[in-house]
Amino acid sequence: MKTGRHFLFVPGPTNVPDRVLRAMDRPMEDHRSSAAPEMARSIFPDLLKVFGSANGQAFIFSGSGSAMWEASLVNALSPGNRVLAVRNGQFSTLFIDTAQRLGLKVDVIDVEWGDAVPAARVGEMLAADTAHGYKAVLVVHNETATGVTSDIAAVRRAIDAAIHPALFYVDGVSSVASLDFRFDDWKVDFAIAGSQKGFMMPPGIGFLCVSKKALGLLDQAKCPRAFFDLRDQIKHNAEGYFPYTPPIAHLFGLRAALDLLFEEGLANVAARHHRLGEGVRRAIAAWGLKLCALDPKIYSDTVSAVVVPDGLDAKKVIDIAFRRYNLSLGGGTGRLVGKVFRIGHVGDINELMVLGALSGVEMALNDAGIPVTLGSGVAAAQQWYRETATG
Ligand SMILES: Cc1ncc(COP(=O)(O)O)c(C=O)c1O
Repeated sequence: MKTGRHFLFVPGPTNVPDRVLRAMDRPMEDHRSSAAPEMARSIFPDLLKVFGSANGQAFIFSGSGSAMWEASLVNALSPGNRVLAVRNGQFSTLFIDTAQRLGLKVDVIDVEWGDAVPAARVGEMLAADTAHGYKAVLVVHNETATGVTSDIAAVRRAIDAAIHPALFYVDGVSSVASLDFRFDDWKVDFAIAGSQKGFMMPPGIGFLCVSKKALGLLDQAKCPRAFFDLRDQIKHNAEGYFPYTPPIAHLFGLRAALDLLFEEGLANVAARHHRLGEGVRRAIAAWGLKLCALDPKIYSDTVSAVVVPDGLDAKKVIDIAFRRYNLSLGGGTGRLVGKVFRIGHVGDINELMVLGALSGVEMALNDAGIPVTLGSGVAAAQQWYRETATG
């Protein structure tokens, strides 16, 4: 039997704050009652703010982040459309796979896993596309598989410099509600998010933020769609309802999660993620281990993918941490299976939670045959947290 709290340090699902849990623990309600619209009317404007948008429209679907890839693609594109996508990790790989399975022709810019979206290369490809064959550009803001955050503002500048009308798709599943995200400033057309990371909620709902330009294409898009048709959402959301039975408990949880985000302040949320993430990175450096992310400029503040030395299996570290020390770490995905373990530092966490997790990682590393000095990473993180403590 395990006593105490489990240490959940995967990069999603993340720890759900008690306030969110309590808000969800309630009897079900009639989602067609005359009082039901109060909930939708309170949530949508706040959800939009989390995306950094005043001009777009936010949508909520039952489903996960992957469902939002599909929902975003089918509502503005037609089978056979050409799109340009960057592949720099497992989640961008799956986004591309989704686009291909929906009948889109995807031209892929491949970069090393651990590298960021190459804005200049995107710009060159678009500038060369004088006939404007590319209907969309697909990128992942925060590649959760490698712990890499890309400069979305730079990609936007590259699109603008090429004077190209392609729609701009940004996966923000592990960045929205945790990192700085600016839908309007970056002129994003579709931003994709899910409930189980920065939003600090259980998995189960996905979010989209959609630009006016993209909303203008709904009738033109020929990809088959039914459940994901935004036109149904628009019609029902306008009255405060949903086209199907909404995830009622999740909506109450979302209301509580939005309150928590605004009480802290979105800028403070991002700053906290940076500070906590930096402590994790200092610990990793103290252990003498390397990140999968290739350059400090692109280190993610929500997840660190740690490379284990050649010939050793990261799965062993993860399993020992889980079985012996009640600590969940993320595994490598795709071609990184066994090569990295990931420490999620996203959502409802604080210094001491991170330090507890780091001490568990130190024990698991040693048990798995990767000797690191016990306490070295914890001490490096402690030092950083003391240096940067306020109050
Ligand atoms: C960047 C990114 N995109 C998409 C997804 C897929 O989301 P889901 O697992 O909720 O379908 C994930 C999941 O971790 C992710 O990290």
